[in-house]
Amino acid sequence: MFNKVLYIKYHTTALKLGITAFKTIPFKSEKSFINGQWVSAQSGKNLDVFNPATGTLVGTVPDMNTADTQIAIDSASKAFETWKNTTAKERSQILRRWYSLMLENQNTIAEIMTAESGKSLQESNGEVIYGNSFVEWFSELARQVRGEVIPSSDRSKKILIHHQPIGVVGLITPWNFPHAMITRKASAALSVGCTVVVKPGEDTPLTAVEIMKCAEKAGFPPGVINLLTSSRENTAEIGRLLCKSPLVAGISFTGSTTVGKILYSQCAPGIKRIGLELGGNASFIVYKSANLDKAVEGALTSKFRNCGQTCVASNRFLIQADIFDAFVDKLVAKVKNLKIGNGFDEGTQIGPLINEAQLHKVSNFVEDAVSKGAKVLVGGKPASHIGKLFYEPTVLSNITSNMLVYSEEVFGPVISLIHFNTEEESLHIANSNDVGLASYFYSEDISQVFRVSHNLEVGMVGVNVGLISAAEAPFGGIKQSGLGREGSHLGIEDYTYIKYTCLGNL
Ligand code: SIN
Repeated sequence: MFNKVLYIKYHTTALKLGITAFKTIPFKSEKSFINGQWVSAQSGKNLDVFNPATGTLVGTVPDMNTADTQIAIDSASKAFETWKNTTAKERSQILRRWYSLMLENQNTIAEIMTAESGKSLQESNGEVIYGNSFVEWFSELARQVRGEVIPSSDRSKKILIHHQPIGVVGLITPWNFPHAMITRKASAALSVGCTVVVKPGEDTPLTAVEIMKCAEKAGFPPGVINLLTSSRENTAEIGRLLCKSPLVAGISFTGSTTVGKILYSQCAPGIKRIGLELGGNASFIVYKSANLDKAVEGALTSKFRNCGQTCVASNRFLIQADIFDAFVDKLVAKVKNLKIGNGFDEGTQIGPLINEAQLHKVSNFVEDAVSKGAKVLVGGKPASHIGKLFYEPTVLSNITSNMLVYSEEVFGPVISLIHFNTEEESLHIANSNDVGLASYFYSEDISQVFRVSHNLEVGMVGVNVGLISAAEAPFGGIKQSGLGREGSHLGIEDYTYIKYTCLGNL
């Protein structure tokens, strides 16, 4: 459990010694949360959690496996029998308390997130506010889920429609948004009467533990919300069991397209509900009518949030030939000034990549591009003088379609510049891939705004804006970027089924 005394002592000593406070957090030895209890793994094994900025050990959590998963599923299944019959008002009130508790604990959650994910404290605070907005949203929406009465053509019949909770849902969430991806899924599922088993990202389980502490205090009955922390080695087996168990009605996953496909196929034999938020390869198009200063600001936001490690991050920057040089000059000047460093340091804008695999991937992509003729305008290499997992914010030009940065999602701080001449050409490049999550474009030409937005083959479009995520908006993709929508009033659809009742002989 969180040791408040140690925490206060640490900060007082830090301040006395004149060193910046909040350089890290006190070591955290945590348990997982199943059936309303804080528990160790059945195997007794633990998983170490490291700070990617410094490589220091920040805590441990239970390393759970399928034995623990079965217990969590059983608990969630038992809890569903009563949770599904609670009133919408009761669920709304518990969700609202959860929201308030996370708001009260925002700083603590944000510090833990920075310690295990490396993102800046400012971004972590922003994520808790963002993640919490889903809990607030679904606490409000819970009471607005209504059925329908459809006029029957037979006078003696009435046709009723109800939305009912599907049952136990397995929520498999990633490390890049350790708070928001859990709350976005869990609050929607819980609001309509489902119970949940949450499997958080292996690199960032401590934030998930904090979320559960608030959930416990909010008063969710035992088994309604469960947490399975685990290492990478156990993750595939846990995922398989969640997909195959007859007690689990649905899965919601955010992560790579590769893993999404595996889970989709594992859900097929049971015809399980599945929501998939998978990879993207967002284009960021700047047309000649754009306001270039606004476009540069949007480019920085959409690319460098969380060090480029977001599925909606812009990947391919398509710039109309007429304004290419002017845009690139402005962009490069800004990128050169981005502050890279430890997320706890004042003013940090870019933290480390999450782990070595990510660092290698980004380095390989840049090396591949350079070997095929790309020009490095800024950055282009690891920032090893800051730490093992840091990579310099990078801008590449002379990009061609045979480079990995063109066709694959980078998931790192790399901007790849491609120039085009006509709107048709820009749309052709933007749409020429098998994923379709988000796309951004800048234009002051109103007809072009409608045309381009209509023709982009993606689930989400940002026009003259680099940040589109919001609790009120439907988040999700088309093509191989996924299935279903999260957030908004549509976010409950993955967790409810439609019950049609026919009343006859009236
Ligand atoms: C993601 O990258 O997985 C989610 C990003 C967001 O919610 O904005």
